[in-house]
Amino acid sequence: MRMYDIITKKKRGEHLNEEEIRFWIDGCTNGTIPDYQISALMMAICFQGMDRGETLNLTLAMRDSGKVLDLSRIQGVKVDKHSTGGVGDKTSLVLAPMVAALGIPVAKMSGRGLGYTGGTIDKLECFPGFSTALPVEKFYQNVNRIKMAIMGQSENLAPADKKLYALRDVTATVDQLSLIASSIMSKKLAANADAIVLDVKTGNGAFMKTEEDAIALAEEMVWIGNSAGKQTSAVITDMDQPLGYAVGNSLEVKEAILALNGFGPDDLMEVVYALGIEMVLSADMAKTDDDAKALLVQTIQTKTALDKFAEFAEAQGGDQRMVYQPERLPVGKIQLQVQNTQEGYVSRIMAEEIGLASLILGGGRITKESEIDLSVGILLHKKRGDQVHPGDVLATVYANDMEKAKEAYGKVVCAYQIQNQPVQHIPVIKRVIR
Ligand code: URA
Repeated sequence: MRMYDIITKKKRGEHLNEEEIRFWIDGCTNGTIPDYQISALMMAICFQGMDRGETLNLTLAMRDSGKVLDLSRIQGVKVDKHSTGGVGDKTSLVLAPMVAALGIPVAKMSGRGLGYTGGTIDKLECFPGFSTALPVEKFYQNVNRIKMAIMGQSENLAPADKKLYALRDVTATVDQLSLIASSIMSKKLAANADAIVLDVKTGNGAFMKTEEDAIALAEEMVWIGNSAGKQTSAVITDMDQPLGYAVGNSLEVKEAILALNGFGPDDLMEVVYALGIEMVLSADMAKTDDDAKALLVQTIQTKTALDKFAEFAEAQGGDQRMVYQPERLPVGKIQLQVQNTQEGYVSRIMAEEIGLASLILGGGRITKESEIDLSVGILLHKKRGDQVHPGDVLATVYANDMEKAKEAYGKVVCAYQIQNQPVQHIPVIKRVIR
């Protein structure tokens, strides 16, 4: 078999069979196919597309390019949750202790990744002493004992995807639906939970800018997951403004703790409950959406989710006092208030601009080597639909460097759009796909 012929076939819009896709991915993993041929094929896929059968075969080949985790030593139905990424997305910090408090095992392997703020691992490092460098044995023990553990991604999961993604990034081939769906799902299938719940974000601060694209991606991923034998569902959620009020690592942890105390912002809690319902149903702990939600609500009302979060932080070496005294979490020394100048209603908060402001402050990573400042970020005081008057504070910028603070301030000002008329409510949960 020759890679040249495979590229030619796809260039002509022909179907690639399983053997051809495996040949491509195996060659990619063991380095026998050069980058230029891999890239040429991906560009042909961008123009000609792939059908669902090809996309499934690509996903499975990438899953099998590295280690597939064996979670059989963890008792119970393992449910994995994945978000396509958004601004102010602290959903996992709230949801994981809630479902763990219900006895559903949360065994999470996470990388640090790049982004506007840190990932879940970075955020958890706001707790002094917290470590995700757990030996595998301890990881399994913790999940079985307290139902929740998170570990830095030490295993070699889906290495072919790593290679393809790096090439897509520099050859303008990231935004192809089958390539995105197979990339995400190959890693989820290698992580090998029994069920997968996907949070597919849509809007200005999301990977998928339109609802239509987000639905198409979600449908493709749900189909792949189910075809690979994992019960999979997806919730399409709004990312046309940041989720909740806090953007930035320690600010988001504080907001998550507030949520676990019963004071979570409405939009954040809507997303938490929508995803939580899918997780509880997948774990067979309830038969209806209402029953699943009632179980989740109880974990907040009885503070069992809050206590679970503290137990989890301590089990991984963190200072659990912060969970009960979040005022101990680090905050930037410089605080600039962004004042409103217009009469009207907030019609939009461009999530992407707020994310960039966080990145400028040092709250996220530009390269893998970047150091994150956990104490910086933006706290919004007004959200979409709020009435505002001149002089109102729209947001506070938390920083440790005045130059960066001023630059971020400018981004926050640009992010807010004010209109004269009251603003129509936009639902946070767009659709659930099962
Ligand atoms: N996230 C991924 O893991 N892969 C993609 O292709 C896009 C987003």
